[in-house]
Amino acid sequence: MSRSIVIAVDGPAAAGKGTLAKALAARLGFAHLDTGSLYRAVAAKLLALGQGPEADDARLVAESLAAEDLTARDLRSEAVAKLSSVVAAMPEVRAALLAYQRRFAAQPPGGKPGAVLDGRDVGTVVCPDAQAKLYVTASLAARARRRHAELLARGERPDAEAVRAEMEARDRRDSDRAAAPLKPAADALLLDTSDLSIEAALSAAWEMVVGRIGPRS
Ligand code: C5P
Repeated sequence: MSRSIVIAVDGPAAAGKGTLAKALAARLGFAHLDTGSLYRAVAAKLLALGQGPEADDARLVAESLAAEDLTARDLRSEAVAKLSSVVAAMPEVRAALLAYQRRFAAQPPGGKPGAVLDGRDVGTVVCPDAQAKLYVTASLAARARRRHAELLARGERPDAEAVRAEMEARDRRDSDRAAAPLKPAADALLLDTSDLSIEAALSAAWEMVVGRIGPRS
């Protein structure tokens, strides 16, 4: 069996990494895993169970996640986003989710020849041997604007300043934690999407990936 080609796309919230990872995977015919959905699923289940962020409870939930938990309806809420970055700082939660992510990368579902994983620590911890690593960033202002628009589009009535403050706090939790903090891998290619349209960002990401894995037919 030939080896799976792995592309790691990391970066802070709302930098555009999910959109880029999904589009790259579709174009390459690879499988896509939004690794943030795993942490969000743990948070959503804890909230549904009425449990606080106790490490033991969070670990048990992480160990027993099922496929349908990753597509639950409320994964994109601000409450889930906030709690997901709290449980993501717990080493026992990260450890419980690691094997699934590595298996997805090594044996992409559907027999696909490769996988694109997006998150915070894909290039540094989950798949340090990924053939291509992108670190996608954007200014806090641009990211807060996008998240605000996304929440509006979902029918919520977000306060712009609160969205920005919450994003800044989440960035800090993700970057300052001891376990797999958010940071670019030494061999990652940096892409700042602050002033790029989705099309321009995708074309830049595509050039970067092809530069690393070679042209695909
Ligand atoms: O990417 P998304 O915003 O959905 O991720 C939600 C949270 O999950 C992040 O704020 C981060 O704390 C955590 N996460 C992580 N490692 C990953 C992906 C997400 O710690 N690989």
